[in-house]
Amino acid sequence: MSFSKVIVGTMRLGSWGAAFSSSDYERFIDECLDLGLNDFDHADIYGGYTTEEEFGRVIKKRPDLKSRIRLTTKCSIMMPVDGRNSYPLKYYDSSAKHIKDSVDRSLQNLGVDQIEYLLLHRPDYWLDAEEVSETVNALKSAGKVIRFGVSNYTRSQMSYLQSKIELDVNQMEISVNHPDAFEDGSLDYCKEKSIAITAWSPLGGGKIFESNPDKRTKGIQQKVKQLAKKYECREDQILLSWLSTHPAGIIPVLGTSKIERIKSALKATAIKMERNDWYALLEASIGHELA
Ligand SMILES: NC(=O)c1ccc[n+]([C@@H]2O[C@H](COP(=O)([O-])OP(=O)(O)OC[C@H]3O[C@@H](n4cnc5c(N)ncnc54)[C@H](OP(=O)(O)O)[C@@H]3O)[C@@H](O)[C@H]2O)c1
Repeated sequence: MSFSKVIVGTMRLGSWGAAFSSSDYERFIDECLDLGLNDFDHADIYGGYTTEEEFGRVIKKRPDLKSRIRLTTKCSIMMPVDGRNSYPLKYYDSSAKHIKDSVDRSLQNLGVDQIEYLLLHRPDYWLDAEEVSETVNALKSAGKVIRFGVSNYTRSQMSYLQSKIELDVNQMEISVNHPDAFEDGSLDYCKEKSIAITAWSPLGGGKIFESNPDKRTKGIQQKVKQLAKKYECREDQILLSWLSTHPAGIIPVLGTSKIERIKSALKATAIKMERNDWYALLEASIGHELA
């Protein structure tokens, strides 16, 4: 099992961000592939259930892409969207019916025959590990799904699910802005069980670059600036190298729609931060000296 050095996130490419046209998607996909990036991260709900379909239009027009692209998608969040569904509120569903229906819809929307990584997007408090296991194994046998994982699952939720089905990946929120995974046991559990760790919002969703920052963000910005000077690189590269330098092998899921920023992120994976600098950024994030 392997990922590209960074994973290309699609959440902000459509109506939740850059509002790409079909030609924008096509150019963006080609440019990512030219950089050696073939992992693209989707979810059924992105763009209010529209981004997969927009992205898939390019694959339907260019079937050659099917063998070059590796797709992750997610299900289990039921998001009310006027005119698309009649969910009365946002809730989670990891039942056999929802998983099967969602995978079929994603395959149809994306214009592919198989999904490389299917993830449960958020922990469902009604989770039945046996039901998930039977469902995912049937999808694997049918060739619709290759690998399986979760997103935002805690250590105990992963452990329960792992008792019935092997997990290949956990996609968690990890960044200087959100370092909880280093403390709450989720990262250690992934290391112990050889579950790949991917990090969403690796730049804190852009919050870290705010021009009118709160006190904590200001502290992070100052430290990042200092380190960018020391390592002779850009500030966003410091934030990304904070993830890639860590020995757990964390792979960032990027959110930018700009190819120049993706190129810069790729270079960041080569920057190796010293241990004391890594801790200095953690200190700036938590706002106090470690014990
Ligand atoms: N599993 C989950 O629950 C979950 C949740 C959220 C997201 N995700 C996945 O993770 C991916 C990344 O999440 P994210 O979009 O929050 O990631 P992010 O990379 O932390 O944030 C991206 C945002 O930061 C901005 N940005 C990037 N570099 C910047 C810079 N140097 N200066 C100023 N702004 C900058 C981008 O704007 P530009 O486009 O202008 O560069 C974009 O708006 C998503 O696409 C999605 O695939 C998963």
